[in-house]
Amino acid sequence: MSVKQFRLARAANIRFPLIAFHRIFAPIQFFTQNGYMAQAKYKTHLGMNDILPGEVEKWQALEQLIRTEAKKFNLEEIRTPVMEQTELIVRGVGQLTDIVSKEIFSFSRGDDNYVLRPECTAPVARAFVEHHLEQRGGTQKLFYIGPMFRAERPQKGRLRQFHQFGVEIMGSDDPVADVECISFMMHVYNKLGITNTTLKINSIGDPESRDSYKKALVDYFKPNRDKLSELSRKRLEKNPLRILDSKEEEDQPFIEKAPLIDDYLNDASAEHFNRVKTYLDELKIHYEVDPHLVRGLDYYTRTAFELISPDLGSQDALAGGGRYDLLVEEVGGPQTPAIGFAAGMERLLIACDELGIELAGPKQVDVYIVTLGEAARTWALKTLPRLRTKNLSATMDYMGRSMKAQMKDANRENARFAIIVGDNELREGRFTFRDMEASEESALTLDEILERF
Ligand code: HAM
Repeated sequence: MSVKQFRLARAANIRFPLIAFHRIFAPIQFFTQNGYMAQAKYKTHLGMNDILPGEVEKWQALEQLIRTEAKKFNLEEIRTPVMEQTELIVRGVGQLTDIVSKEIFSFSRGDDNYVLRPECTAPVARAFVEHHLEQRGGTQKLFYIGPMFRAERPQKGRLRQFHQFGVEIMGSDDPVADVECISFMMHVYNKLGITNTTLKINSIGDPESRDSYKKALVDYFKPNRDKLSELSRKRLEKNPLRILDSKEEEDQPFIEKAPLIDDYLNDASAEHFNRVKTYLDELKIHYEVDPHLVRGLDYYTRTAFELISPDLGSQDALAGGGRYDLLVEEVGGPQTPAIGFAAGMERLLIACDELGIELAGPKQVDVYIVTLGEAARTWALKTLPRLRTKNLSATMDYMGRSMKAQMKDANRENARFAIIVGDNELREGRFTFRDMEASEESALTLDEILERF
């Protein structure tokens, strides 16, 4: 088994019969002595992953793409702490939501209770109020990238620490804001080449529309209460809209025939939704109206949407969002209509993998200086900064290895060029400059080498 195969297997959490193995195979014994094979004493929490070199480059590429594209949409980045006061999240996201009732990581310090943020809309609303962002004038067009925490049962595409990028547009109830928000979301996926997606949209109405719809749903489901799943029976009392979200088989026949929100939207909500759809049509952004799309967070009003990918299996929601016209007031701020979305970055990366989309090329270093002898090592150490001022990535051996081992290391590091230095080269002031790709060498002075770049 190669080190690479071993690391892959370890990443997949395959356990090895260590004791029997390392008694038989000397190389594996070497690994155990060096800590490779030994079972780690300390581990990440279930559903929280280290992002290791080799993987992290994809994240950097994705984050860079998001920042570049956000700039084109005139979005400004906001960063909020990973912990928030419990009350903010309970009020913002909703006491009865799955997120708050089951999935929160909470802790206390002194008399204060905190949670690890399960999402970033309530925190951004808190920051908006705390820093009076409305005083900056106009609409606040914000985006963020960062980790969120939900104590869900981990599976592919569902983690306990996951990452979102998201947008919050605050201070406008114009359907243009809804459509710009959706448009940015679609733009990022299209830019990456993830085009096999379905955009589902719905309007869950303003509070007036929703109240009459909720009443209609209760009237409809109540006679069949006993035939509903346990979860839906609970939801019937607390939040009947969420029954429409149920995946339970026994609920489906009732959901199919349930009243539709469309018939309960008041004129203002219907007009808003129609304009959102018209603008989406104008932009040729394809969508499906899904009257059962209600979303799992309590703050939504009017527009709600989700982006679904068939390449993701059961956790098929790439992104989701909607309007939350009352949230800012709910957390103590001025009346501020707003719309936003958040996208799961792990799910986006899974979709990239499934579709063979490469976000980052292989690791590469521009120059590796191979040395023979102490004087050459000192020269190399002093030359590295000169190469780096040329915006090159440059490295050398840190382990006092033989030249052969250093050349091997240069190959492993995927070095584009090597400079080979020994006492003779130092005396003559000419160094072997090796093009690793073309396997060509020339004897050059350092100035000549620097001129090459
Ligand atoms: P959400 O639908 O809860 O919305 O999450 C948005 C996206 O985050 C999901 O579509 C999914 O891709 C990803 N996600 C959620 N939970 C997990 C998990 N446990 N593991 C991996 N990925 C996950 C919100 O969070 C709202 N704050 C969106 C929003 C912004 N609405 C308005 N503004």
